Amino acid sequence: MTTLFDTIDPALRHAELAAEIRRHDALYHTHDTPEISDAAYDALRRELEDIESRFPNLVTPESPTRKIGAMPARGFQKVPHALPMLSLSNLFEDTEVPVFIERVRKFLGLRPQETLSIVGEPKIDGLSCSLRYENGKLLQAATRGDGTTGEDITANVRTIADIPPTLPSGVPEIIEIRGEIYMRRDDFATLNTRQIEAKEPPFANPRNAAAGSVRQLDPAITAARPLHFFGYAFGMLSSPVAQTQWDIRRVLETWGFAQAEPAARCETVSEILAYYQDVLERRADLPFDIDGVVYKVDRVDWQTRLGAVSRAPRWACAHKFPPEQAITRLNKISVQVGRTGVLTPVAELEPVTVGGVVVSRATLHNEDEIARKDIREGDMVLIQRAGDVIPQIVRVLTEKRSGAEKPYEFPTICPECQSHAVRENDAVARRCTGGLICPAQAAQRLRHFVSRPAFDIEGLGAKIVQELWEDGLLKSPADIFRLESRNASLETPLQNREGWGEVSTRNLFAAINARRRISLPRFLYALGIPQIGESTARRLAAFYGTLEALSEAMTQAQQNEDNGARADLLSIEDIGPAVASEVIEFFAEPHNRAAIEDLTAQITVAPFESPTSTPSPVSGKTVVFTGTLATMTREEAKARAHALGAKVSGSVSKKTDYLIAGEDAGSKRTKAIELGVTVLSEEEWNAL
Ligand code: IVH
Repeated sequence: MTTLFDTIDPALRHAELAAEIRRHDALYHTHDTPEISDAAYDALRRELEDIESRFPNLVTPESPTRKIGAMPARGFQKVPHALPMLSLSNLFEDTEVPVFIERVRKFLGLRPQETLSIVGEPKIDGLSCSLRYENGKLLQAATRGDGTTGEDITANVRTIADIPPTLPSGVPEIIEIRGEIYMRRDDFATLNTRQIEAKEPPFANPRNAAAGSVRQLDPAITAARPLHFFGYAFGMLSSPVAQTQWDIRRVLETWGFAQAEPAARCETVSEILAYYQDVLERRADLPFDIDGVVYKVDRVDWQTRLGAVSRAPRWACAHKFPPEQAITRLNKISVQVGRTGVLTPVAELEPVTVGGVVVSRATLHNEDEIARKDIREGDMVLIQRAGDVIPQIVRVLTEKRSGAEKPYEFPTICPECQSHAVRENDAVARRCTGGLICPAQAAQRLRHFVSRPAFDIEGLGAKIVQELWEDGLLKSPADIFRLESRNASLETPLQNREGWGEVSTRNLFAAINARRRISLPRFLYALGIPQIGESTARRLAAFYGTLEALSEAMTQAQQNEDNGARADLLSIEDIGPAVASEVIEFFAEPHNRAAIEDLTAQITVAPFESPTSTPSPVSGKTVVFTGTLATMTREEAKARAHALGAKVSGSVSKKTDYLIAGEDAGSKRTKAIELGVTVLSEEEWNAL
């Protein structure tokens, strides 16, 4: 038999998996926007664990198998956990239950006649939280974060009615209670209706809604969200309070912490499996989402002896449920256009209840997915909710076809602006080429444009942008800077409109005018070039120095594949071929060029400000780097040269002032000598 490893380099695959898992961890824990189902995520983790068990030399302390979740997001204080907040290992099959029980018995050295009691509880699909009480008072609440350090969410947690601010007298001095913050399904549905009415994006599922609500920087927003809490374990305790897990549940309940039901204390594998089956059958009737059950060794002294391995306790595990499925009709495939112009197909379904939630849409991912599964309008489809994502289509029930269903043809023009929609090279996504003239992209790009890391215009939030956009007052970014002059000639100027007033209008114009001079990194980020985040925008700005230089370089890169301009771009850290193409294509698009010109007629984009602005021996000089540098990367060298006020060029000419020649400098060095250009060694350059 051939194994996966006959064809795949395990080290390469390990690195790939680790990067992918880290990305999904961040999406899930830090941004609350998972892209894949729990099951798909678990599969990635299992593949990684499998590789590590075969090739232990690949295990590093940075491996996701040694870490839990993602580092806390910015904006909240970090809180170190007194005891790590662990995760649970997962069982997927009934046959894995006796294996778990045997492992525990063996570890404890139990004789066959000795009873091992196991407590079964629902596994709540929420957000884990640790509550610290000192002398009976709630002092601190923290998220799990990476398991070692979480985020301080005390102010938000104080708004949750299920969490008592004080404990009865006589409790131990220090108590940490671990549990799950969650949202009920009915509350989730109501919240989403409100979100949609307020033109805010709805949440994908109750878990994301709970996480998004807890992560609000303003506790007043959290207070308005219907959050609940189940306590299920202790962290640090200054003295013991119970000898069994079953008693822990009772103690927590008398202290005012709701306990998730149904729960059971089981003594045999068949009792455990019967419990699992019972909960599975009642799952859809529970008012909250669960994604399995948790088994815990009942005796606390045994829990202590069993301890934990890397990220999970040996005394507990989760037994996952299969995803919830249902069959319904796919009425129509509609195509949505995102900020960056990606066309995303969405299945419009005959509404159906899947595990207690009414579903009327499902994601179709992309064009290839539709073709691969041969999904057609009018088909009966099997859909599933995999816990953390919007429902997916598992397969088409082809046997139910009438014969009238036609294969779906993916649009090649944008449904919003009728521009061509194209697939570049081997991209999975088809993208509208309309850029800023595409209304779908324009409104969303405008919102991005004014967002905090971009132009950061106070008083011009998502709702107002939408309102002004619908009014036709804002069509392009430059319109923002024309708003004040246009307002004067409006029939109903803003200050006379509902929800506005003299003061707010004046403040808005002041905030806009304050941004008529903008730094290059913010400007580049604001353009919303696909894949260009804040840090890449900054690197681009540092490298090129001015918008003009960047724009000129992109024209060159576009015209000719190998004139060095593309190579320069690729020499910047974090910029690979895909990102480079995005930047080049963005500047190649006439709509985008026009929008930039329109903008720069209104505002000034300040050249990149280097940390040192004092004149240096190389200010105004043109320098060229060649060969391998020993003390820094080429990008660093170029950035330093820019920072010191030098111009960096890719080729040697009469205009070159210095050639900095590293190891193995070749033809450029010869040419420089011929032209009489000063050639410096790396050391000499550094000394300068
Ligand atoms: S006990 C040391 N009990 O599931 C073990 N966890 O996938 C601590 N969870 O991090 C966890 N319901 O956030 C426990 N009844 C329950 C749970 C539960 C949900 C969460 C918890 C944990 C995650 C692991």
